[in-house]
Amino acid sequence: MIFKFMPTILVGLALGGTPAIGGIAVGDAAHGTRSYDDYEKPQACSSCHDDIFQQWKQAMMSQAYTHHWDEIEYFELAVKHAEKDAKVAGVKAGCNGCHAPTAFLAGDTPPPRPELDSRANESVHCDHCHTITGFEGDVPHNFNWVSEPGRLKQGPKPGVVSPHHDTVENAFLRTGDFCGTCHNEMSPYGVWVKSTHLEWKEGPYYAQGVQCQDCHMPKAEGVSARMGQPGLVAQHLFHGAHDQGKLNGSIEVRMNPIEREVESDGTAVIRVQLFNGKCGHKVPSGSVEDRMLWLEVTATDSAGRSWRLPVDPKGFAGEEYTISAETLAYQDMGIAMDIPDFPGVQRDGIPAGNRIFRMPYFDPQGRMTMQQWNTASLGVDYRIGPRETKVETFTWEVPAEAAPGRIEFRAVLNYQLLMKPVAEFLKVPAEESAPRVINSADTWIEVY
Ligand code: HEC
Ligand code: HEC
Ligand code: HEC
Ligand code: HEC
Ligand code: HEC
Repeated sequence: MIFKFMPTILVGLALGGTPAIGGIAVGDAAHGTRSYDDYEKPQACSSCHDDIFQQWKQAMMSQAYTHHWDEIEYFELAVKHAEKDAKVAGVKAGCNGCHAPTAFLAGDTPPPRPELDSRANESVHCDHCHTITGFEGDVPHNFNWVSEPGRLKQGPKPGVVSPHHDTVENAFLRTGDFCGTCHNEMSPYGVWVKSTHLEWKEGPYYAQGVQCQDCHMPKAEGVSARMGQPGLVAQHLFHGAHDQGKLNGSIEVRMNPIEREVESDGTAVIRVQLFNGKCGHKVPSGSVEDRMLWLEVTATDSAGRSWRLPVDPKGFAGEEYTISAETLAYQDMGIAMDIPDFPGVQRDGIPAGNRIFRMPYFDPQGRMTMQQWNTASLGVDYRIGPRETKVETFTWEVPAEAAPGRIEFRAVLNYQLLMKPVAEFLKVPAEESAPRVINSADTWIEVY
């Protein structure tokens, strides 16, 4: 099926051949079919769209190629791995289909390093998104957008006039499917390694007509250009996991004991409820292979002594990946880095016994991997879905040395963009693995 919102050219997909719409190559086949000069630079938009330009500049979208961790993962792992393993050879070009789409379309593979300041550095830029006319296939994924650069810009509103370009209303830009072309990714092994759009589509927000744009490009009164008509304008915030404000409270945490009064040699049972009230998809989403989301519960007695409580296992299959442990993983980094029999690095890098909300990715040898392109299967999905509540239990024998009186409990839900042991091994700047608090809760018991 061909999915096009533009009323123009609607030509059939060449059966079994190169995917093309109206002669326009799509997805992997689009590599090298355009030149950089077909697209205007973001600076060409900034004089009139000054506000939107600065918003975009501050968002990850404008750094998708230049950001330090992206540069390290692409050049140190993906490109080198692609050169050694035919199965993943396509990612050398393919990473840029989403991270530096104009470089991909221009066939500039691999593009110059960010420090060389080439046009690949424009990352996901204005003229790329505003010349996307639709997507090809049934499910948006792996940069299957249709790009038709030129004077005509695709926009969300009808009847808009600009001195610099022509504009056309394209309803596609108002849909989550537009975002899905880059926010769903299938690995060379046919595994959904990024599925933010799919998670949204099967969740409650899609059913109620809430789009990605409603949360990541909220609309506010103003003008979208210097000479523009006042109205509701889509703010180009694209704020996500890199934005502390967006993360704050995205999961609500509450906690209570089952019994408030416990004997000095008794057992306390603590329940923690975690509610995803703010996200249109699972948490974590997107780069799930990199993210750490974990719950830590501590008890402190009236004398100031404290203990960390291990979570009660629930007994589901694959649960061992959701409780922190002293285990090695990510051995497949050794392929790109030329380290034979690489033992791996610590899987979690946090104290043992904490609940981790994650979905593990496995390489073709069944080892846990953070290389999404080398992912052949997925483990248990223990993330927190949109409007889902997960409950964790901590059964804790009150230690003999605990002082009588009140014992305070604190639950902290922590987040890391990237596991610390991997960040340290690959020399990724520390900010990428700095622990950040999403939420916390407190309760207490009386020991008599
Ligand atoms: C052409 C591909 C492309 C399209 C289309 C696209 N994105 Fe993205 N987006 C990316 C890439 C690549 C990144 C990662 C940037 C980085 O390297 O951290 C990203 C990052 C983001 C982030 C920041 C996540 C974080 O970790 O902080 C948000 C939020 C986001 N996109 C939302 C959207 C929404 C909403 C849409 C649709 C209106 C959309 N994107 C359309 C490619 C795209
Ligand atoms: C000389 C000024 C100028 C420049 C340069 C300019 N634009 Fe515009 N653009 C406008 C004006 C004015 C509007 C109409 C705004 C309104 O009335 O709401 C507009 C509207 C748009 C719209 C339509 C939005 C909608 O409401 O549907 C898009 C998309 C757009 N511009 C993208 C771009 C891109 C991408 C660039 C850079 C390649 C660019 N513009 C450069 C002045 C400019
Ligand atoms: C990741 C893709 C993406 C990028 C990058 C992007 N835009 Fe947009 N833009 C959109 C989408 C999607 C909408 C429509 C949102 C809606 O209405 O729900 C939009 C809306 C607009 C509008 C109309 C706003 C309104 O509500 O009237 C203008 C003007 C515009 N963009 C200009 C720009 C400029 C200039 C840049 C670069 C500085 C830029 N865009 C970068 C996706 C993008
Ligand atoms: C109801 C509001 C809502 C909707 C709808 C929504 N998001 Fe989000 N999104 C959030 C919040 C809040 C966060 C921050 C918490 C987090 O990172 O998990 C977030 C985080 C993200 C991230 C970073 C995820 C990570 O863990 O790295 C990306 C990427 C993203 N959203 C893209 C999208 C896309 C694409 C869509 C549509 C398919 C979408 N969002 C729909 C609220 C929403
Ligand atoms: C289908 C589109 C797509 C492809 C292909 C793709 N990415 Fe991404 N990538 C994204 C999006 C979207 C995000 C943002 C997700 C999020 O914020 O959770 C992202 C995030 C990342 C991040 C994390 C950024 C951060 O700061 O946390 C890295 C690193 C990365 N990609 C590297 C790569 C490499 C290397 C490849 C090729 C092997 C690749 N990507 C292929 C879309 C893609």
